[in-house]
Amino acid sequence: MFPKDRMRRLRSREGIRQMITETRLHPDDFVLPLFFDESIDSVKYTGSMPGVPTYPLSDAGKVAERLSSSGINAVMLFGIPRHKDCEGSGAYSEEGVVQNAIRKIRSCSDLIVMADLCMCGYTDHGHCGILSNGKVDNDLTLTYYGKIAESLAAAGAHVVAPSGMMDGQVAYIREALDDSDHSDIPIMAYSAKFCSSFYGPFREIARSSPSAGGRESYQVDPANGREAVLEMRRDIEEGADIVMVKPAMPYLDVIKQARSEFDVPIAAYQVSGEYAMIKAAAAKGWLDERRAMMESLVSIKRAGADIIISYFAEDAAKELEQ
Ligand code: PBG
Repeated sequence: MFPKDRMRRLRSREGIRQMITETRLHPDDFVLPLFFDESIDSVKYTGSMPGVPTYPLSDAGKVAERLSSSGINAVMLFGIPRHKDCEGSGAYSEEGVVQNAIRKIRSCSDLIVMADLCMCGYTDHGHCGILSNGKVDNDLTLTYYGKIAESLAAAGAHVVAPSGMMDGQVAYIREALDDSDHSDIPIMAYSAKFCSSFYGPFREIARSSPSAGGRESYQVDPANGREAVLEMRRDIEEGADIVMVKPAMPYLDVIKQARSEFDVPIAAYQVSGEYAMIKAAAAKGWLDERRAMMESLVSIKRAGADIIISYFAEDAAKELEQ
């Protein structure tokens, strides 16, 4: 017996294949993370993240203009301050590195500027919050997150993205924004943020590895899918406008689950280690970089992400324009 239903019938021609394509990427899907370091004068590269520059603040305008013409719509800013201290004061200073970058980018482009809201890049101990007796103090940290949110919004951030995984952070930040006349600023919450080894290259760029201990006391265990969904539900109840799953590729099941349970937009962060893996294998000639990039991104969208934060954003947008 030969099969009557031949799946291959619809795969035989390019035009038909295009007609039945279920998931299409668009440059508007992407957000490109950008790093600004207050203490450098020229672009710097990090070994584990080929093609991802750390920019001096003086380049912000130039970068914004280049990206505006590349077709991507949004950036996510991370700052590396000149000084780190136990209170992460660079994170909420009016003249902080990200606050300055936001102002410069806004003045030279129409890009949507999202700002990561956390302390690990700003504290001398590298944790995402304030320590009391050697432990991250949840509620004390919230008061700092409120200050950071206000200062990012005052500098002109269009969206704030809390990534520190403190309990109650979304509600606290919502109130801080509303009380400071920023009720129009959405919160994109890093809600399902797993305690992942795939953040390694990012921590090299941001010099944000914790000096003692890991982040398992605040980030989600990679084994826990239900707990990640619960985190997202809580954040939506607290007022999150967008919820995020991070990393993306090892957690496509969580993205899919979020898509089926929630009606808010879902973001997914293809993190530094995911990018580095593809880059490293491609550099060795072990896989085709362009195809692996597009396949990884379309998989994330197919799983259910509306917004994809990726270091490939600019290259992928170029690829889509061809
Ligand atoms: C800050 C933050 C991290 C990333 C985004 N925001 C690092 C961390 O949790 O250690 C990682 C992003 C990446 O790996 O690309 N909390």
